[in-house]
This record gives sequence, C-alpha cells and structure tokens, in this order.
Amino acid sequence: MRNLEGKTAFITGAADGIGFHSARALAKQGMNVMLADINAETLQQAVEVLKGEGFAVDGVVLDVAAREQWGAALDATLSAFDRVHFLLSNAGVSVIGGQQNIEEQEWRWIIDVNLMGVIYGCQVFAPHMKSHGEGGHIMNVASMAGLQGVEFASPYCATKAAVVSLSESWRSELAHSGIEVSVLCPGFAKTRIYDSYRNRQPQYGGPVYFDDLVKQKPSREASKEVVVTGVDVELIAERVVEGLLNNELYILTHPQFRQSQQTRFEMINTAFDRASD
Ligand SMILES: NC(=O)c1ccc[n+]([C@@H]2O[C@H](COP(=O)([O-])OP(=O)(O)OC[C@H]3O[C@@H](n4cnc5c(N)ncnc54)[C@H](O)[C@@H]3O)[C@@H](O)[C@H]2O)c1
Repeated sequence: MRNLEGKTAFITGAADGIGFHSARALAKQGMNVMLADINAETLQQAVEVLKGEGFAVDGVVLDVAAREQWGAALDATLSAFDRVHFLLSNAGVSVIGGQQNIEEQEWRWIIDVNLMGVIYGCQVFAPHMKSHGEGGHIMNVASMAGLQGVEFASPYCATKAAVVSLSESWRSELAHSGIEVSVLCPGFAKTRIYDSYRNRQPQYGGPVYFDDLVKQKPSREASKEVVVTGVDVELIAERVVEGLLNNELYILTHPQFRQSQQTRFEMINTAFDRASD
C-alpha cells in the first residue's frame, strides 16, 4: 500500500504495547485507526490518549478468540470510517513452560487467541477489502519465535509458526483479490506480554496477574526480564509502517537473530544433501 493518507486501519490488541504504538505511528501517516481490544478500560484510555493528540481514532471492544464478536467490530468500524484498508492482527498472549507442564486449557487459550484470532480476522476483513475494490493489506503479528522453536516456549512458538505459515499461504492466495499479506516477526520488545494472563478469559481459567503467577511458578520471573530489556516498542511500530509501505512479506526488527536463522537454513540445506546422496 503506497499511500496511507485517508485510509483506515483496524488493529487488534491495540490498547497496549505494539498495537498501541502502531496505532499512533499509522495515525501519524494520516490513517484513520480503529483500536480493538479485549480490555475495555485500557482501550478507552488508549483512544482518549490518541484523540488528545489530534488523531482520527475510535475504539471497539473485541475478544479476537470470539468469532461471534468480529462482525460487530467490522460494523462499528464501517460506521466510524466507511471502509477498511489495513488489518493489523496483533493481539497475542504468551504461554510458556516445559511441555509436560502445559495444561490443555492453556493450549486452548493460546491457540484460540494467537491462531484462531488471526484466522477470524482474515475471514471477516478479506471479503470486505475485496468488495470495496480499493486494495487492502493484512499484516499478522508472529514473532522470531515463529521462525525457530525455543525450549520451554513450545505453545508460543507453535502458534507463531502457524501465523508465519498462514501469512505465506495467504500472500499468494489473496494477491488475486488485490490484498497484500505480510508477517511481522519481532524479537523482544518492552511491552506487558510477560503479563498476558491478565487478559485470560473466564472459560480458559480467568485472569492471573504476573506477581501471583510468579508466586505459583518462580521461574516465570525470567520471562519478564527478557521483555523489559528488549527494544523500545516505537522501533517495532516504525517497521510496521515501513513494511506496509514496502509490502514486505517478512518484516523483521532484530538483526541479531540473523545468525541463528542462518544456522537453521544450513541444517535444512544439509538435510537436503543427505536426501540427494
Ligand atoms: N513484546 C515482545 O517481546 C513481542 C515479541 C514478539 C512478538 N510479540 C507479539 O506482539 C503482539 C502484541 O503483544 P505486546 O508485546 O504488545 O503485548 P501486550 O501484552 O503489551 O499487549 C497485548 C494487547 O492485546 C490485548 N489482548 C490480549 N488478549 C486479547 C484478546 N483475546 N482479544 C483482543 N485483545 C487481546 C491486551 O489487552 C493488550 O492490549 C502479540 O501477538 C505478541 O505475541 C511481542
């Protein structure tokens, strides 16, 4: 998408972190922005902050894991801004731990939010973008953890790998409908992702706040440390804008992970050599 002025973005998980800062960065480009989030209170605060800065924004409460809420979210956006050109499927949560210690309910939660939430977004917004004929772009937020499995983080890595795969598949599938697709794969950034359980819905066990989680599982403390020492979120938001303007398939933010990716490619290449022997 070359010209963002006057176009509309819809962002999930927009009340905080990467979603909020991307909303501000896109609004600075002249876009209207609909902020969607499961947390009505932080959503309202986020909308007020950006309105106070003079941006054309609005908000809608949306649990991305609830398929039945997506139609109303689209309708609210169309009432506010007429049509949508850019979907940033950003809402995500983190479940980590040894593979024997993850309860089924936690698997269901992370799959429903990180994977099904992205699927529902595409199901609802791609037909709308196709119908208005002005072109569209869907950017899904995965992670570096989606490009390589990491020990004691298999639920998070598995959902993010699926988001990479969906994005690659949809990129060629939706090109015929004038819709570009990309996938953002950040490394650690200073957000509240370590405190994801604050937003856990009742059907998956309800909210637990980080300090209480650490009391139950002291090893969780390390998950906060890596996030709070990550990059500033503004850097990720800048890459969102660049990746959108340049229609990049893989949008990366952390060059320090190049070596581990190269090692992975070399292992796959060597496996092909063995297949050809
Ligand atoms: N921060 C990092 O280090 C990092 C690295 C790589 C990828 N990511 C990804 O970036 C995305 C944004 O995370 P963040 O770091 O800004 O985290 P964050 O916790 O600061 O923000 C997440 C936002 O999503 C909302 N949310 C949670 N569950 C939701 C649901 N079911 N429906 C709608 N909204 C929901 C929260 O209320 C919050 O506003 C996630 O997909 C995450 O996996 C983050």
